[in-house]
Amino acid sequence: MTKRRRTRILLGVTGSIAAYKAAEIARYFMKRGCVVRTVISESAEKFISSLTFESLTGQPVLRSFWEETKPGAIGHIALADWADGVVVAPASADCIAKAAHGFADSPLLAILLATRAPIVFAPAMNVNMFEHPQTQENIDTLRARGVTFVDPGSGSLACGWKGRGRLADASEVYSVTMRALGPHDLIGKRVLISTGPTREAIDPVRFISNRSSGKMGVALAREAYRRGATVTLVHGPLSPSPRLPTTIHRVSITSATELREEMLRRVEDSPDIVIMAAAVADYRPAQAASEKIKKSAARRAIELEANPDILVEIGERKGGSPKPFLVGFAVETGTPEELVEEVRRKLSRKNADLMVGNLAQDSFDKDTNRVCLVPRRGDTISTDTARKSAVARKIFDLIGDLTK
Ligand SMILES: Cc1cc2nc3c(=O)[nH]c(=O)nc-3n(C[C@H](O)[C@H](O)[C@H](O)COP(=O)(O)O)c2cc1C
Repeated sequence: MTKRRRTRILLGVTGSIAAYKAAEIARYFMKRGCVVRTVISESAEKFISSLTFESLTGQPVLRSFWEETKPGAIGHIALADWADGVVVAPASADCIAKAAHGFADSPLLAILLATRAPIVFAPAMNVNMFEHPQTQENIDTLRARGVTFVDPGSGSLACGWKGRGRLADASEVYSVTMRALGPHDLIGKRVLISTGPTREAIDPVRFISNRSSGKMGVALAREAYRRGATVTLVHGPLSPSPRLPTTIHRVSITSATELREEMLRRVEDSPDIVIMAAAVADYRPAQAASEKIKKSAARRAIELEANPDILVEIGERKGGSPKPFLVGFAVETGTPEELVEEVRRKLSRKNADLMVGNLAQDSFDKDTNRVCLVPRRGDTISTDTARKSAVARKIFDLIGDLTK
């Protein structure tokens, strides 16, 4: 997969008690491949030193108009032009108010006027300051101009009050920023994804399941969200539970029967894209015991009955309609060549628009994957091993091409 230029994030830090969390936010973006530079307000420097950001990011921090370093260069304009995205976290009430009214009496405020990059504010303040009609009006003004806000969390605040105003988690600030940066090809689209294993009860303490981690479907959900979609993720037991953008609707299921019910009900709402990435158990015990089965005989047989094929059922409901664009996953254990053959067979049987094949040894419980993409119309594509996030990008790129 082609190597992309690293995303350039300009982090603006303002004078909130939550300023110390901006260091974690800088690290979070860097760990995910972004280059981070920082501009800090005079008040913010009372809470956290610019040295912290200089050390963490390895980049100089812009603190004042009057200390700009390179002779002849206008530092704040250069930074405004450099950034792919400007993230103000934490954003103080004061900064939000001044930005809404076009003030430019600090480097950060001037950058907010000068930049052509998407701007994201993550407010942090006392609940009454946040809910004050003036602050809300300022937020509305900025929103109307295309600025994105990361909703603050609720809970105990540093000031002693309880309520909305807590700086959002680094993961949420990151996800919302990446969505603001786009691409925006799935705006207005509804995407339904299933992922993870199912568990088929033998008795109240035992079950039959498989080694699926659900990471591929989680990566697909994140990617669909990043591209602007409204995303529902129906998932089996995931451990550890992934951090997902708060606006991804999560539905937790245990058995194949529950997954079937949830998926078929949601398919009725006619989503634009449905991806069945869940590793559904093919069989379940014919009879789940209501009490724990006691250890007695040396051998014991469990009678199994087949679970319904949910992808086939969704394919039948879709019939000849282009909507939903239906994507199925298949996992095999043979060679890559055998995988492609098997996936081709499944494609026609299941009425899918695209089948994604992967080998258990490449995929299960890994952060990377290697897949073959078999569309109903068009050539089969085999990818190299890459992070599941990159594979998810490739899958949505292909869906975009196939639905043009
Ligand atoms: C201890 C302390 C904590 C503060 N915490 C916040 C806060 O969480 N959110 C906020 O909007 N303002 C807070 N303020 C007020 C801002 O620091 C003040 O409005 C300042 O002018 C913001 O400037 P700036 O936006 O240029 O950084 C706090 C002030 C103090 C003294």
